[in-house]
Amino acid sequence: MSISDAMQLEVAGLTSGYGGITVLDGLTLNVAEGELVGILGHNGMGKTTLMRSLIGAVPARAGRISFMGSDITRLPPHRRNQLGLGYVPQGREIIKGLSVKENLLLGQAAHKGASAYQEMLELFPELSELLDRPGSRLSGGQQQLLALARCLMGRPRLLLLDEPTEGIQPSIVSDIGQKLSRLRSDLGLTIIVVEQNLDFLSNIVDRSIILRGGKIVADLRGESATDREQIESHLLISA
Ligand SMILES: Nc1ncnc2c1ncn2[C@@H]1O[C@H](COP(=O)(O)OP(=O)(O)OP(=O)(O)O)[C@@H](O)[C@H]1O
Ligand SMILES: [Mg+2]
Repeated sequence: MSISDAMQLEVAGLTSGYGGITVLDGLTLNVAEGELVGILGHNGMGKTTLMRSLIGAVPARAGRISFMGSDITRLPPHRRNQLGLGYVPQGREIIKGLSVKENLLLGQAAHKGASAYQEMLELFPELSELLDRPGSRLSGGQQQLLALARCLMGRPRLLLLDEPTEGIQPSIVSDIGQKLSRLRSDLGLTIIVVEQNLDFLSNIVDRSIILRGGKIVADLRGESATDREQIESHLLISA
């Protein structure tokens, strides 16, 4: 098997930005199926831009993105979603005027069968008790779980999460970490999670990637991936 076959996501020389600003500048990243990868970087370093470039919400100006062997660089977001890319945005973006159940059903992709809803209730028993509650009456942690479950209704193979613990009570943060670890082991998902909360990441990741100046400046694996001192030294250099 070639390296290319083994990688689920291959990003080579990705450049993207807004107007006259270049945010990602020739970024290269390979992720294997089933990995749980953390992306760290200071505010404004382009973490969200990377997520949005992967899903196709920000166009690539140069470079190539390939997913499960297909070149997706020029595909629109809905096509990438159909191929198995799922995204939970920063700020969660659940619909506050709709109930938990209605929010969940919004995520159901017609082509992927009706069984997803039942499966989600089993994976998220916390939500199955809140089905009629409006989104506006959920805590931050409940909203995050709902956003995650809604995304999973489309049965992604790669889950992209942007700061899932932002604004969430510390006691709930570890529940979210456990949930992600379980989703990876139960569903075999690949997960890329942008985070600034090192404690949260160090409990769950296989790899920690640090973004600076539009490029990856560190890709830490094994014990280094959760070594706070090493991670912080790379983050400090990025300041
Ligand atoms: N829609 C936009 N139009 C113009 N510039 C933008 C836009 N979105 C982001 N930027 C700029 O691009 C750069 C990277 O932003 P991005 O949101 O990707 O950073 P981030 O690492 O996710 O930051 P944070 O930790 O604050 O979420 C910043 O300088 C930001 O001001
Ligand atoms: Mg961001």
